[in-house]
Amino acid sequence: MGLSVIILAAGKGTRMQSKQPKVLQLLAGKPLLGHVLSSVKNLEADDTCVVYGHEGKAVKSFFTTPSIRWAKQAKQLGTGHATQQAMINLPSDNRVLILAGDVPFISSNTLQRLLNETPSKDVSVLTVQMDDPTGYGRIIRNDEGIKSIVEHKDASENELLLKEINTGVMLCPGKNLKKWLNKLSNNNSKGEYYLTDVIKMAVIDGIKAHGIEADSCMEVMGINDKKQLAEAERLLQKKLVDELMINGVSFADPSRVDIRGSLKCGKDVFIDVNTVFEGDVHLGDDTKIGPNNVIRDSKIGESNIIHANCHIEGASSADECEIGPFARLRPGANLANKVKIGNFVEVKKSNIASGTKVNHLSYIGDAELGSDVNVGAGVITCNYDGAKKHKTIIKDNAFIGSNVSLVAPLDVGKNATVGAGSTISKRVPDGGLTVARSSQKSIKNWLRPKNKEAK
Ligand code: UD1
Ligand code: CA
Repeated sequence: MGLSVIILAAGKGTRMQSKQPKVLQLLAGKPLLGHVLSSVKNLEADDTCVVYGHEGKAVKSFFTTPSIRWAKQAKQLGTGHATQQAMINLPSDNRVLILAGDVPFISSNTLQRLLNETPSKDVSVLTVQMDDPTGYGRIIRNDEGIKSIVEHKDASENELLLKEINTGVMLCPGKNLKKWLNKLSNNNSKGEYYLTDVIKMAVIDGIKAHGIEADSCMEVMGINDKKQLAEAERLLQKKLVDELMINGVSFADPSRVDIRGSLKCGKDVFIDVNTVFEGDVHLGDDTKIGPNNVIRDSKIGESNIIHANCHIEGASSADECEIGPFARLRPGANLANKVKIGNFVEVKKSNIASGTKVNHLSYIGDAELGSDVNVGAGVITCNYDGAKKHKTIIKDNAFIGSNVSLVAPLDVGKNATVGAGSTISKRVPDGGLTVARSSQKSIKNWLRPKNKEAK
């Protein structure tokens, strides 16, 4: 029997107090809906449908996965009505797994367990025991399994005492679900078509409804406001850092680091406080990250030292490089072994070969630097003429004096030395000294200009 997945994500998310739709709020750098989609992906369903409503365009344009089917719910008339919008093009003999877009921690394992433990003709609901079940639908059981789900607002005093709640994840045979959804009424305290009412209908039709318990409350936590979003962020950060520590990474303080994406580390990596990792970051064995760095989508090799306050994006380094403090590596900055990039140096779209040093106050853009080049303080590659970008090539073992402007397109030869303060706009030959500045002169008896009125 095939599987269809429906993710309900059309709600307003009023409590978020945001112009953005709720399911686009970020958790560890990824929208809430993205977390749910990642867990669902592993189930390899035939069909995944997201029900959208508010700011649908923004939601749709964020998730470009072609395999997602989108169903619009123009008016938010309840979870049952939302599910109905997704049923229109659904293969009717599939099983249907329904989830909410605001429950980001749901794991593939739990979903798979729900699928495995539910006989294909039956219905099941993922439940959990909550110390404080306020606001959730309560699970009413009999000897057979679940008899019904009562929403908090509609529950009697006795029913409110029940701690087992509906997590919002449900599995139904598609054919029956279609029939039951058509019979829903909105005769309840919210005036909505509740998905949860299909349980009663299943029981009437003699179909068994199983309650299957989730592993933890955290896994099924729903995110409704910014406070819950921040709580979820901390929980997720702790989980990510715990996993890294189990795998041998050391943190100066595990509570002062943020991972917004995927961080992969080799052995004996040390990470000081307040570093933000974004996108896909890889750190090789023995690499040390100082405090206050931002590292995004970059691959750092083994035994690197990244000093405090660097901003590194779309860059790579091989082994034994030293970067910062206060360095900026922009996309396409690729450093070979033992390269040193010092303070207030910006590198963009440049390959820098092994042993080369750019230690102070420089801009290196659209350049190819050979090995063992020394770039003095304040050297600028003038790569932009106002219309186009041009390349600077500096060959092995060249020495560029301080405060040199290298006007691209430009070649600097092997072993060449360029005198400090030069503005170089023509090819520099191999070896020797090239200087391009007016020679120094002294004027004797020269008088400083004076203000006439001054006495
Ligand atoms: C729902 C369940 C409740 C359960 C809780 C778990 C129902 C009637 N209630 O309540 O039993 O304990 O989730 O978190 O199902 N949505 C739509 N269209 C709508 C209404 C909602 O797409 O018209 C979506 C929302 O975007 C959200 C999900 O459905 O992702 C759940 O809706 P929400 O209003 O948050 O339901 P709860 O009151 O939390
Ligand atoms: Ca909710």
